[in-house]
Amino acid sequence: MGKIATVEMRGIGKSFVGVRANNNVNLSLKSGDILGLLGENGAGKTTLMNILYGLYQPDEGEVLINGETVQVKSPRESMHLGIGMIHQHFMLIQKHTVLDNIILGFDDLPFFFPQKVMRKKVEEFSERYGLHVNPDKYIWELSAGEQQRVEIIKALLHKADLLIMDEPTSVLTPAEAEDLFVILRRLSDEGHTSILISHKLEEITSVCNRVLVMRKGEVTGSADISEVNEKTLATMMVGHEISLSYPKKELDQGEAVLEVKELDVHSDQEIPIVNKLSFSVHRNEIMGIAGVSGNGQREMVEAVTGLRKALGGKVYLKGKDVTNRSARYIHDNGITHVPEERIKFGTVANLLLMENSVLKQHHSQPFSAHNLMHYPTIRQHAKKLMEDYRVDAAGINTPIKNLSGGNMQKLILGREISAGPDLLIAAHPTYGLDIGAADYIRRRLIDCRDEGGAVLLVSEDLEELFQVCDRVAVMFEGRFMGIVDPADCDMGDVGLMMAGSLPKETK
Ligand SMILES: Nc1ncnc2c1ncn2[C@@H]1O[C@H](COP(=O)(O)OP(=O)(O)OP(=O)(O)O)[C@@H](O)[C@H]1O
Ligand SMILES: [Mg+2]
Repeated sequence: MGKIATVEMRGIGKSFVGVRANNNVNLSLKSGDILGLLGENGAGKTTLMNILYGLYQPDEGEVLINGETVQVKSPRESMHLGIGMIHQHFMLIQKHTVLDNIILGFDDLPFFFPQKVMRKKVEEFSERYGLHVNPDKYIWELSAGEQQRVEIIKALLHKADLLIMDEPTSVLTPAEAEDLFVILRRLSDEGHTSILISHKLEEITSVCNRVLVMRKGEVTGSADISEVNEKTLATMMVGHEISLSYPKKELDQGEAVLEVKELDVHSDQEIPIVNKLSFSVHRNEIMGIAGVSGNGQREMVEAVTGLRKALGGKVYLKGKDVTNRSARYIHDNGITHVPEERIKFGTVANLLLMENSVLKQHHSQPFSAHNLMHYPTIRQHAKKLMEDYRVDAAGINTPIKNLSGGNMQKLILGREISAGPDLLIAAHPTYGLDIGAADYIRRRLIDCRDEGGAVLLVSEDLEELFQVCDRVAVMFEGRFMGIVDPADCDMGDVGLMMAGSLPKETK
């Protein structure tokens, strides 16, 4: 431990076809630092970290560790140097168990009983840091937050001395994020160094001791945390001040678009996870679902959108029974959906941006007729989405996998919102978006509502829910603890309900 005393990146430059992702970037760190790396979507943060981790080679510049130039040619080498990275999108193998994923790529496995020894290590480790996961579960069975924990345990077990985390908290609950910060602080006390990419300014100011801000591939600021606050950071990031208030039209609740009656759904483990849930979502309203993830939100949404079987109860869309109809049928009848793991389920990595822009609509008007895709219309649509949702990419013919994380999300959101659905279901739509983009998306959700649509917004960000929703339901263990009016309710009470207890004065 403690192999890395200083890390320096000098004059780093990196271009991709048509994009200057990094330009003369300098960064320096010493043992114990927790550096916050901030910047708008597409600013070049992930690229810079991929260079440090050896996934990309820089076009210009050098990396120095303990004052000596190193060439990090592959992640395997960087691991040997003591650099670990947790990626923005999960890199775990879905069909393997937690334990197998952790063992994979481990060089100094014990000769005897490797499984047993490693299991013990994993258990000790998860206990020590409060990162609870079951080593025998398959990755596909885990929630996003649990998968993240596996990644963290994996990196730390590989003795990462410098831990790079690319938006690690975007899939964690606030409580899980706080646990992670406790770990980071503990690691820092032990002399480890961390780099934390985050769009959440309060996270950066609460856990980091230094911050580096990037914009359009270049460093626009670097400071000690004591010299900045959230406001100055925001300005450094986007180049101007932004205000976060969301005016909405005064509208009466319209007719019910979605009615869910006594819905029962099982989890992947075949355990009841949604229990006799009933609610409705109406035109001209944004209904929020608050709750710590893992309380049935995802399964409920999947049952409503046809991705999971409803074992009991009914789902009505515009009065029509759509219970257990196919996802395509439900989509074609007016529900669009931005899933939790949108990169995995919302895009096809090897297809072009243009093709991804019509992923679910490609079979219907105006994008196809007589079973033939109509490319000019698709191209035009893709261009418009890029413009409207400020998707920063080289062009509509770029493979979607080359987009920065946030830009991919903006495209998916744009695609689902622009389809003009009767009901838009959005799970954590602003995760991973920079503050400017998140602001833009919230306004589009409100537009959707104002124009007569219904929106179901699943989020763990209470502030966001309170800013945009007309009603907020708090979900706990597969049921609603209550439905509150954000204009007339205390956020603290909602916090209590999220933890399963009722505030004193509820009806
Ligand atoms: N492999 C690649 N091929 C082509 N272009 C790429 C590739 N990787 C990144 N880019 C481009 O480089 C720029 C920087 O991307 P990067 O992923 O580093 O941004 P980021 O700051 O991490 O953004 P986000 O907050 O959205 O994750 C973007 O314009 C992106 O489209
Ligand atoms: Mg990124």
